[in-house]
Amino acid sequence: MTFRGKRILVTGGAGQIGSHLVAALHDAGAEVLVADNLWRGKRENLIRQGSPLIGPEHFHKLDLTDAEACRQVTRNCDLVYHLADVVAGINYVFGNQFSLFNVNLRIDSNMLAAAVANKVPRYIYVGTACSYPASRQTLASNGTTPLFREEEVYPAMPESSYGWSKLMGEYQAELAMNEELLDVGLLRLHNVYGPHCETSAEKSQVIPSLIRKAIRHPQEPFVVWGTGRQRRAFVYVSDIVDALLAVADRGMNRGVIQIGPDYSTSIRELAEAVVKLAGKPIDITYDPTRREGDGDRAADYAKARAVLDWQPRVPLSEGLRRTYQWCQQQLAP
Ligand SMILES: NC(=O)c1ccc[n+]([C@@H]2O[C@H](COP(=O)([O-])OP(=O)(O)OC[C@H]3O[C@@H](n4cnc5c(N)ncnc54)[C@H](O)[C@@H]3O)[C@@H](O)[C@H]2O)c1
Repeated sequence: MTFRGKRILVTGGAGQIGSHLVAALHDAGAEVLVADNLWRGKRENLIRQGSPLIGPEHFHKLDLTDAEACRQVTRNCDLVYHLADVVAGINYVFGNQFSLFNVNLRIDSNMLAAAVANKVPRYIYVGTACSYPASRQTLASNGTTPLFREEEVYPAMPESSYGWSKLMGEYQAELAMNEELLDVGLLRLHNVYGPHCETSAEKSQVIPSLIRKAIRHPQEPFVVWGTGRQRRAFVYVSDIVDALLAVADRGMNRGVIQIGPDYSTSIRELAEAVVKLAGKPIDITYDPTRREGDGDRAADYAKARAVLDWQPRVPLSEGLRRTYQWCQQQLAP
């Protein structure tokens, strides 16, 4: 698919993934609209080297739990990338299970219904690896990481309401696809990190949270939540953008395609790598009384390779270095 001249809406476009996607679509010659209520996104994420990527008439500060707002903003779009949802670190997710579930269901239902009503031809949704069954995301005593295939999300029993809400988002988009109401692309992402991430203590995910603690050390103690043994499959944001562009081209109506590496990294390894980047003496403290989430998971990305010709390209060491540098500029006094 050529993006040139197409009118493309990116919901959540001021967020971490969305803002990088907006830049890529802008470079490909698309007319890009953004809808975001700035709950976690920032207008600055849409500025590159001093110039805004989109004009003010293309930025819509909207709460997508409002169905009418969704109908207005999807008018005359050729393609919708629906990325807006409430996503945050483990503390926020488990401390707000009801409201998070409720809000995400409403955003996702409203957006899909609006796209169908306005006859948007193509719609792309992103799910999460948090939707895999909690009972299978375990740390094996022999050190083997569970490698998930797409279909193994069922029978469903995600650990959090976030995982449930995103699975419902995938499910309803699949229903629309099966009834041929519009063309649907579905990616299921593992743990995404990179510049334009949220760094606050309240809403940040593990990588920016550890980086913030390292930068602010010793004013902020370098405490890792849990034992540090829990593992995640981290994927750099530019690899996600590659997949988002490819799915519009080659992955529509092909069902869910999982995006993430086939190996995991422990939070202990991550914390040690962040401390090394900080280049100052930091004692790492583990707090096993804090919630640490699922034990371990990674992606069998054979489908992504076959359908999208996708594979992770940015190694964790390089991605971490770039993210650390970006956070350092953001958090500079
Ligand atoms: N970050 C990850 O590790 C990860 C992993 C799997 C899936 N995902 C999914 O990818 C998508 C983008 O995630 P991200 O990492 O860029 O997070 P993000 O928080 O940076 O982006 C989400 C954006 O949605 C916006 N938003 C939230 N509620 C809204 C509302 N009611 N109305 C309008 N906008 C609203 C936020 O302000 C934010 O800019 C989300 O759907 C998320 O579930 C993310």
